[in-house]
Amino acid sequence: MRTQVAIIGAGPAGLLLGALLQRAGIASVIVEQRSPEYVLARIRAGVLEQTTVDLLDQAGVGRRMHTEGLLHGGIELCFDGARHRIDFKALTGGKQVTVYGQTEVTRDLMAHRHAAGLTTLYEAEQVSVHGFDTATACVRFRHDGTEQQIDCDFIAGCDGFHGVCRASVPAPALTVYERIYPFGWLGVLSETPPVSHELIYTNHPRGFSLCSMRSPTRSRYYLQCPAEDRAENWSDDAFWAELRRRLDPAAAQTLVTGPSLEKSIAPLRSFVAEPMRFGRLFLAGDAAHIVPPTGAKGLNLAASDVGMLAPALAEFYAGSTHGIDSYSQRCLRRIWKAERFSWWFTSLMHNFPETGAFGQKMQHAELEYLVGSAAASTALAENYVGLPLEQ
Ligand code: APR
Ligand code: PHB
Repeated sequence: MRTQVAIIGAGPAGLLLGALLQRAGIASVIVEQRSPEYVLARIRAGVLEQTTVDLLDQAGVGRRMHTEGLLHGGIELCFDGARHRIDFKALTGGKQVTVYGQTEVTRDLMAHRHAAGLTTLYEAEQVSVHGFDTATACVRFRHDGTEQQIDCDFIAGCDGFHGVCRASVPAPALTVYERIYPFGWLGVLSETPPVSHELIYTNHPRGFSLCSMRSPTRSRYYLQCPAEDRAENWSDDAFWAELRRRLDPAAAQTLVTGPSLEKSIAPLRSFVAEPMRFGRLFLAGDAAHIVPPTGAKGLNLAASDVGMLAPALAEFYAGSTHGIDSYSQRCLRRIWKAERFSWWFTSLMHNFPETGAFGQKMQHAELEYLVGSAAASTALAENYVGLPLEQ
């Protein structure tokens, strides 16, 4: 088999790249180790920046997002038992975010790829990448019981944090920056109306909590929990009781509870691997970087990476290497700004036992400053709605 771009991984990064390449007339094959059902069963965040919405539109997959997605013009910060609204629209000249689950984005991209008759090889085993530092790159794997090889011009490593692409780069060629946080997020999805029409981020002495949603009838809630905790330790009742304790009295009273459809714990990590290009191999999305989920930048960064990679590859086929030569540097400028924002928002909102009473006083002073100062609120708002693709 031969193609122009072999894409490893059918998460949002790989699928969106495939769709953008198709629009540019560039052929791709996606190789994914899991089944489509497995990919769709993963519950992830669901807040889209306008740049992500624009890229999905460009790729031709925005229709359902525009009818079912919820436009949010602000969020609420909750501390000391009171909520304070950060008005994105007023602070950023009218910008908003779209609440639409990553699962739905993935579903739309999968349907689009299927309808366009483009090849995705699911349940590929022993995927390996070769020759990306030479003139002849290829991908090898087992599929349907036979050994296969795809020869290609380029390999796009969209295979997530635990993928094979970054792991195939010789260690001396990579510089890794990492911070692991001493807690996790326990998440619950439930078929209940959201407690409020906007997201509520709470700083509470018992730990952070977040009230989010997927639709007017489906909610997503999170609690900060110990890193070593297990979802099985939490009954639904225990989850709802703890969430109530961390909310302001009005929200605690309004909260509608119900059986959990999903309950899981995610670790929190900041991670960047530099650079993002090695000859004919490009890394994009979680394969190159991870942010803690506070602020929901993960999916948006995956989208902006491939939003830069697709035109760079199109430029290459039109005769210029300028786009692919500057890909890594251009992506990393945006990634580090989102890393900084996600780290800052995480540090502000969570309980860090090791920083003690002084740390809590610092958080409290910063929260009061944030909600009382137009300059500080604007800094939060402009980062949350998303910085420009290239700045
Ligand atoms: N071979 C083939 N496919 C692989 C391999 C491999 N060796 N390893 C991993 N994969 C697949 C995974 O099964 C997954 O479907 O690569 C895909 C990577 O998808 P994601 O983890 O969703 O990563 P990405 O597409 O970069 O999307 C980033 O996901 O984790 C969230 O917060 C993050 O929302 C962000 C988004
Ligand atoms: C989510 O809805 O899952 C979500 C929303 C906002 C975040 C993180 C997760 O900051």
